[in-house]
Amino acid sequence: MQSNPHPPANRPVVGLVGAGQLARMGWQAAISLDVGLLCLGAAGDAAALAGAPVMAGSARDGEALAALAGRSDVLSFEHELVDLDALARLEAEGVRVRPGTTTLRLAVDKLHQRRTLAEIADVRVPPFAPVAALDDVHTFAAQHGWPLVLKARSGGYDGRGVWMCDDASAATRALADAAAAELELYAEQAVRLAGEAAVLVARSPSGEIAVYPPVATHQRDGMCRWVTLPAGLPEALEQQIDSLARTLARATALEGLMAVELFLDRDGGLLVNELALRTHNTGHLHTEAAATSQFEQHLRAVLDLPLGETAPVVAAAAMVNVVGPADGSDPATRLAGALAVPGAHVHLYGKLARPGRKLGHVTVCGPSPQAALSLAKQAADRLEGNG
Ligand SMILES: Nc1ncnc2c1ncn2[C@@H]1O[C@H](COP(=O)(O)OP(=O)(O)OP(=O)(O)O)[C@@H](O)[C@H]1O
Ligand SMILES: [Mg+2]
Repeated sequence: MQSNPHPPANRPVVGLVGAGQLARMGWQAAISLDVGLLCLGAAGDAAALAGAPVMAGSARDGEALAALAGRSDVLSFEHELVDLDALARLEAEGVRVRPGTTTLRLAVDKLHQRRTLAEIADVRVPPFAPVAALDDVHTFAAQHGWPLVLKARSGGYDGRGVWMCDDASAATRALADAAAAELELYAEQAVRLAGEAAVLVARSPSGEIAVYPPVATHQRDGMCRWVTLPAGLPEALEQQIDSLARTLARATALEGLMAVELFLDRDGGLLVNELALRTHNTGHLHTEAAATSQFEQHLRAVLDLPLGETAPVVAAAAMVNVVGPADGSDPATRLAGALAVPGAHVHLYGKLARPGRKLGHVTVCGPSPQAALSLAKQAADRLEGNG
């Protein structure tokens, strides 16, 4: 069903490329601000199911992107699987694309991102090199050792497109997988992780910058499972992360919102894992924990409106993802159990339940990250049918 395909007159319209759960939550923010949002996607996508106006089409289709631009004041994105050349042509014709295509290319091509980050003063990334064959992997391993990580240059998410390799036989399997999927790879040193964190930064076209406090993130099988705030890092490291986020926003000429995934190594070092040029899973808890959700901040930034407050309004918060259980059952049928958990803010995305698929998240605010996490896990477990 396509509802309200024409955003109202005399309101600015953000043409959002994508119509998944991030667009769905963006729609909630657009309702509050009463700004127009027009998504590009399919009628069955999460945003469309929530009543967001959706134009049917693919982000890889230049004509669809041009049609979206024709009905929007500014184009922005909820994913990076886009036809970048078509977007660059539109931009050259005067379409406002935020973030701009030069910035967006960083998210589209992760090897390009690594190379760009490596050139920025005061930014550390793990050692990396493009690889096309097993010989290249051996050359890299000879320099940087095993284990190493092979990553797809583009198209990966939630750990898909990331292969942790302990030895040459694992690398051989990864190369075969990648070849079957026609993916180009690069190798990266496996960082000895003390932990992972993420930080969100917004920058408006007029140059205003707002940084959220960093969060601690926990991955399982390459997918983010939960996030806690405060991150529990030393004050000096939190400050370093804040200034890193500002440096990256300026150096990439960011217009919009960017999530920076960070590695904390066992020597106390701070490395950039990857940049996402959009709203991000690790920022969901700010909806309850900060005065401004990341979804509202994104709209404010791309529309060049004043940016919102990012300081926490609660002592602590935790967000746990709800993932489709192995039996294929739908967490939405267990909503009541989750809502019985005190303080549980349940967000379900309306997506078809499939094992391993992100279907929602739960945020709980509390006196400490541990207390909030324990309740958020309890609610998520109930939704997944484990509680
Ligand atoms: N060089 C590395 N050293 C150690 N662990 C790594 C490395 N690269 C990736 N990982 C682990 O794999 C996870 C996923 O990697 P990465 O963020 O690059 O992939 P992704 O699938 O693109 O993730 P996302 O869904 O966040 O975009 C990381 O959060 C981290 O836990
Ligand atoms: Mg990641």
